[in-house]
Amino acid sequence: MSQGWKDSQNAQFGRRRAPPSSNPPPLWQRTLEVVRSSLPSISVPSSPPFPVSLEWDKIAKHPSADPEAGGLHKRRAMNKRVQVANVLAAVKDILSHFPSPSPPHLVEFCASSGYVALPFKVLNPSAHVTILDPKASSINIGFSRIEGLSLPGMQSGVRAVLGTTETFKEVFDIGVALHACGEATDAVLDACIEKRAAFVLCPCCVGRISRYALGYAEGRAPPQSPNPPPPCHEWTKGDTTRTDLVRNVESAWKSSLASMRDSRYDGRPRPRSQKLTQLLEPHHHGAARNFSSLAKASDAGEWSHEEFEARENSACDGNGDNADVNADDNADSKNKKDCKRIVDFDRLNFAEEKGYVCNSFTMMPSSCSPKNEVLFGYPSEWDN
Ligand SMILES: C[S@@+](CC[C@H](N)C(=O)[O-])C[C@H]1O[C@@H](n2cnc3c(N)ncnc32)[C@H](O)[C@@H]1O
Repeated sequence: MSQGWKDSQNAQFGRRRAPPSSNPPPLWQRTLEVVRSSLPSISVPSSPPFPVSLEWDKIAKHPSADPEAGGLHKRRAMNKRVQVANVLAAVKDILSHFPSPSPPHLVEFCASSGYVALPFKVLNPSAHVTILDPKASSINIGFSRIEGLSLPGMQSGVRAVLGTTETFKEVFDIGVALHACGEATDAVLDACIEKRAAFVLCPCCVGRISRYALGYAEGRAPPQSPNPPPPCHEWTKGDTTRTDLVRNVESAWKSSLASMRDSRYDGRPRPRSQKLTQLLEPHHHGAARNFSSLAKASDAGEWSHEEFEARENSACDGNGDNADVNADDNADSKNKKDCKRIVDFDRLNFAEEKGYVCNSFTMMPSSCSPKNEVLFGYPSEWDN
């Protein structure tokens, strides 16, 4: 009977079994440990540094300002109200630093039909408010919701605009974005920094950011757009029939997404902050690859590319608040959460390095959405 490697007739003769392999942990895990050991606070969720409550009784007098009027079913509308209350608590805090006596101009980017902007307008009737999104169907709902605001004068100074963050060129004071996907959050942060406006962001998925960070590490060229995109368009009654206008804006937006996807790079060096770059650079594969691994783990763990894409697509459909909000207490979820916090930490430090006073917190109660981190900041010159 053959005895394997001890049998001289066996092809395995003389070969000893290899010792059991001890693979190193995946890159994201090693990178996460590097960050945790330098920044232990990264794992600690922070409560809002101010009370989170909204005068829903005032908003109830304007049913079209309530999230349910945006077409959400009851449970999702309930969660959206909590998310809006948290975002508006940060806006209120920021307004306490706003230096101008004139009413502020608040822009809700990636707004869909204006979940944040419309309650804000009801509570701050003198403010100028813009709802911006490149999807005509959403902007049309936003427009109808504005028309439905019921107090006299309430509709003045509030408008729905069809366009992308990148093509919005007006001056504004506060930019908000609730659940903007991937680099769309970075685009809002960039727009705010460019205009020295304050920001309140609740970022959504980060899977695309992982790919773009890798593209940056590989030295890929930034995406080039063959045609200048159409300018933003203020929505008016009857614009649904202007199919050319709608097609132009939507197709320019989709082709800019496609060109980033094809280039595998969105033109932003990552990590975005000096602080995280310096922390990650000396380890493993350099800052951008390490960062990319964290962003990927945050969205999908060590899943196959197909699973990773499927998950990213479902998150990008705006279903972020349908995921299991209670799946937070195992080590895997905790790791993912910490990876996401590092991506957000990078964004906040980037803003700080551009002269912003920044802070962040986890929405209260955190069960309102698995994407429940709020980042906010205002230009430090506001305190002068
Ligand atoms: C996940 S949804 C979130 C919508 C809404 N804020 C909410 O909380 O439900 C992301 C939104 O961002 C919009 N969006 C994506 N890319 C954008 C861009 N470059 N500029 C402006 N809006 C964008 C989409 O059309 C979509 O309405």
